[in-house]
Order: sequence, then structure tokens, then C-alpha cells
Amino acid sequence: MNLMETIRANAQQLSKCIVLPEGTEERTIKAADIILEENIARIILLGNHEEIRNKFNEYSLQNFEKAIIIDPMNNPDHEKYATMLFEIRKSKGLTLDEAHKLVQNPLYLATLLIKDGVADGEVAGAMNSTGNVLRPAFQIIKTLPGISVVSGAFIMLLKDNTYVPENILVFADCAVHPDPTAAELAEIAVSTAYTAMNIAKIEPRVAMLSFSTKGSASHALVDKVIEATRIAREKAPWLNIDGEMQADAALVEAIGQSKAPGSTTAGRANVLVFPGLESGNIAYKLVQRLAGAEAIGPVLQGMAAPINDLSRGCSVNDIVNLVAITANQAK
Ligand code: ACO
Repeated sequence: MNLMETIRANAQQLSKCIVLPEGTEERTIKAADIILEENIARIILLGNHEEIRNKFNEYSLQNFEKAIIIDPMNNPDHEKYATMLFEIRKSKGLTLDEAHKLVQNPLYLATLLIKDGVADGEVAGAMNSTGNVLRPAFQIIKTLPGISVVSGAFIMLLKDNTYVPENILVFADCAVHPDPTAAELAEIAVSTAYTAMNIAKIEPRVAMLSFSTKGSASHALVDKVIEATRIAREKAPWLNIDGEMQADAALVEAIGQSKAPGSTTAGRANVLVFPGLESGNIAYKLVQRLAGAEAIGPVLQGMAAPINDLSRGCSVNDIVNLVAITANQAK
């Protein structure tokens, strides 16, 4: 079994309930049909009941009856969720009137369904920007205890094992937090190590990347990565985390040994933590395009419940895969 097959098989065992707020969108409906057919997860689609039923018929799909449909514009629990949202956000200035309007927004309702224990996770983004998917999640679901920052990892399935025996690298943060502090970068490193273990199924060897290896350059940006490495090791001494190091020192055995002798990560890294979102986002796209790696994600990490964001160019298969990953995170 390859990694995605393993993740889908695990999801079938877990039988989690995933809410898809873009419930009237074509790829989402087609993905929901496959997920329900293959029992990858239980599915809540948000949207007008008749419209969703008509689309299942129009696309000749068979599993409409297995989906749970909730219409944000005609929701028997509207009052309950408006009050819940108001209670969560009133200290931030949200009024009850505003809460009533927001619960008609599927992206808000989806997070409230998770908060209420009705759903275990959410996948959205086929029609909405990253910011619009993440904002309600940040406001309502918030972060895991001990974590202040959500970040996004990509599992990079490489074409061969030239650099890592497993053919898998995990990159972060590639999706969320533009300019992390040293403490936030340390959290991202720890979260990414757990994503590597729990989702990519690899034993993480985490490299904290920089343009310097073990003091070869001096700059405030290098100091930040050195400090982040120190904090990450203090937070999770059981993890194999080392830095600061350049990408070649992280990945190439001979260079790692000469630039960072004695490091158990240098030359053997399989988790790359980038110093900021710019480098992380650029790097994953370059490796995807130039090296032909398959990029699975972004897998959002650090949230109190799993919510994952699709690219607007996603395929039906991408949605099915991300729902399976979300179900795995929900365990
Ligand atoms: N982790 C946890 N909480 C966060 C984070 C974070 N990374 N960022 C913001 N928040 C919380 C804030 O604490 C705040 O909570 P509060 O209202 O309870 O106090 C709330 O979210 C809103 O915070 P803002 O600072 O107002 O955040 P904003 O809504 O402006 O931005 C956003 C958040 C949209 C995610 C922003 O960080 C962003 O645009 N990031 C880049 C996303 C992106 O474009 N990625 C690249 C494309 S994805 C790809 O290529 C795969």
C-alpha cells in the first residue's frame, strides 16, 4: 500500500464525520459521493437540500441518501449556533445580530458544528480563499493546548530515494503564518514532527533551515533559527531536531557530515522547517514542479480540531484525499 492508500484505509476504520461547507460545489459533491461509497468518512454537506439532491442526480451519483445535509439558510439549530458564536466572540466585540448573520455563512457554521461535537473535522477551500477558510477556524476552534500558532505542512512524495530512504519529506510552514517568531517557529517544528509521525508515517529527523550551518553566517535571521532550535529541543527533548542548517547540509550526507559533524539530523533530515512562509511556500512549489514530487496538503497543524484548506484548483481526488487526511488527524 502506498501512503495515500494507507491513509484512506485508516480513515475507513475511524469512521469520522467531516463537514464540507461548499456543499453545492461540483467537485465537492463528486468527492462526497466517492467518500460515502468507499466509507472513508461520514459526510455533512452544507447547502440547500433540493439543490444538492438535484446535483447528485445531474451527475448520476448514487449516495445522496447517505449524506447529512444542513442548510445554513434554513437551519433548525440556527438560534443555538448564533448564541454559541455570540458567546465565543462577544469579548472580541461581536454582537448577537452579527452572530445571526455569520451562522448563515457555511464556513462559520462548519466550525460551530465541530465545536458542538456534531462533526470531527472540516475540509473547504474549493471555492474560498485560504484566509476565509482559516479565519472562522482560528476564531472558533482555536489552537491545541500549548500551541499558539497554526501552520501548514506539505507531505512531499519524491520520485526516488536519492535524498531520503523513505522517499518522503515533510515541509512546513508552507501555507499559513507569514513571519513566525523564534518561539512560533519552535512550535511549528514540533507540530510538523507530529504530522510526520501521525500522517506521513515516518520517524522524524527535523532540520531547522537557514542560510547558515552551525554559525557559518551571522545575522539576526540566523539567530532566530538558532533560538527556535533551542526552544524546540527544550519543548520536545524526545524529538530529533537540529539546526540551524542549510538545505544541502540537511539533505546530503557528505555535506551534513562536513558542515555539522556529529549531528544525527544533518545529511539525514526528512522534515524541513523553513524560517518563514515565503521560503516554505516557494520551496514546496519548486520541488513539486522541478523535481516532480507529489505535494499532499497543506495539512494544517496545531488546530484544536482538524480543518484543512483546499487549493481552488483542486481535483475531486484531492478533496477525497484531504478528507481522508482530516479523518486521520481527528483521531
Ligand atoms: N494560528 C492561530 N491563530 C491565528 C493565526 C495562526 N497562524 N493567525 C491569526 N490567528 C488568529 C488571531 O489570533 C486572531 O484571533 P482572535 O480574533 O481570536 O484574536 C484571528 O486569527 C484573526 O487574526 P488576524 O491577525 O486578524 O488574522 P487575519 O485574519 O488577518 O489573517 C490569515 C489570518 C488569513 C490566515 C493570514 O495569516 C494569511 O493570510 N496567511 C497567509 C495564507 C496564505 O495566503 N497562504 C499561502 C497560500 S496557501 C498555499 O499556497 C498552499
